Amino acid sequence: MMENPKTYLDYAATTPVDSRVVEVMLPYFSQIYGNSSSIHFNGQQAETAIENSRETIANIINCKPEEIVFTSGGTESDNLAIRGVAFASREKRRANHLLITPVEHHAVSNTALQLAKLHNFDVEYLPVNKYGQVRPDDVSALIRKETALVSIILANNEIGTINEISEIGSICQEMALPLHTDAVQAAAYLPINVNELNVDLMSIGAHKFYGPKGVGVLYIRDGTPILPIQTGGDQEMGLRAGTPNAPYIVGMAEAFHISHSERDNHNPKNAALRDRIIEYVLEEIPDSKLTGHPIERLPNHASFLFHGVDGNMLLTMLDVAGFACSSGSACKTGSPEPSDVLLALGYSHEWAFGSLRVTLGRQTTRTDIDSFLSKLPELVAHARKGVKSL
Ligand SMILES: Cc1ncc(COP(=O)(O)O)c(C=O)c1O
Repeated sequence: MMENPKTYLDYAATTPVDSRVVEVMLPYFSQIYGNSSSIHFNGQQAETAIENSRETIANIINCKPEEIVFTSGGTESDNLAIRGVAFASREKRRANHLLITPVEHHAVSNTALQLAKLHNFDVEYLPVNKYGQVRPDDVSALIRKETALVSIILANNEIGTINEISEIGSICQEMALPLHTDAVQAAAYLPINVNELNVDLMSIGAHKFYGPKGVGVLYIRDGTPILPIQTGGDQEMGLRAGTPNAPYIVGMAEAFHISHSERDNHNPKNAALRDRIIEYVLEEIPDSKLTGHPIERLPNHASFLFHGVDGNMLLTMLDVAGFACSSGSACKTGSPEPSDVLLALGYSHEWAFGSLRVTLGRQTTRTDIDSFLSKLPELVAHARKGVKSL
C-alpha cells in the first residue's frame, strides 16, 4: 500500500471518515442488514435507523424529515434538483428557463448544459463579481415568467467565496420560483438553516464533513415541483428509487451531527491558519494573487494563482515534498485546461493555469502550515522555471 503523504491539505476534496462515524456504521453492514422496505423485523430495524437519521439531519437544517431525500452524494443531489425541477416545471407550466451562475460545480453546470443541448432548455448565467458573488438585483432583473429554477452555489469549491443568498431566496419566494443551492462545501463550516437561507432545494454530501463517500442529501421544500430522475421503486417519497444505503445514511447523520456540534471548535483555528497562509503567500511570493473573497470565504479555504506556473507541475512538486494540495477542484485533476470558473472570473490563461487550493481540516496544525509555507516559495519558483524551459 502507498504511504499517506505527510501533510494533507485537501479537505475540500474529501475528508477522512471520523472513527466515531465508522463505529456507528459497522453494525449496519452485517448485523442490521435488512432492506428498509421489508415488512419483517430485520427490514424495520433498517427503516428505523434511516428515519432516525432523517430526523437528525432535518433538525440541523431546520426542515421536516419528509423534506429530506437521501442520494448517492452531492453530484446526484445537484442532478435531481436541476433536472427534477426543470422537467416538473416544464410539465406543469411550460417553464423553460434556468438561471445559474458561471461558477457552479460541474454537477450543476454540466446538468444544465445537457438540459440545454438535449431538451431545449434556455440556460442563462447570472453575472458574478470578481469574487464569484451574485447580486440580488441581478436575479430580480433576469427572472422571467418562464423561469423554472434559480441555482446558486453557497460556498465555492474552487475559490472558497460564500454567496449571501438569503435575500435572493426572498426574491425567489415572492415570485414562487424555486431556488436551489449547492451547499456541499458549506455544510461542514456554515450554519445551513434552510429557512434562514430561504432556499427550496439544497444539496449536501457526507464525505466533505468526515462522513462516508457515496451518500448525500437533497433537501426539497414541501410543495416544490419536482420529478424523479431515477425511476423504479417508490423509496424516498417516490423521488429516488433504489434500496437506501442504511450504513452510509446512518454514518452521514452521525458525521453531520458531530460536525454541527463541533464546528465552533474547529472554525476559529482553521481561519487563523488560513489567514496566516494568505498573508504569507501574498507577501513572499511574487506575482501571486488570492482568488475568491478576502473575508467572505470558507474558514478553511485559501486559494491562489501564480503567474506563469503550471498548477499541475506545482502540485506534483508539493506531493513529492510531502504536501497533498489541489489546483481548484478534485474533479479537475489531470485536466490540461484551466478551470472555467477562473476564466469566468476574468483571469487570463497565464494566471488561471497556475492555481493552487489549500484547504484545512480538523487534523491540520500550526506546525503543518509552517512547514508548508517554508517550502512553498521555493517550489513555486522551480515550477516557474519548469514552465519556461518547456
Ligand atoms: C460544490 C460541490 N458540489 C458538488 C460536489 C460533488 O459532490 P460528491 O463528490 O458528493 O458527488 C462537490 C465535490 O467536490 C462540490 O465541491
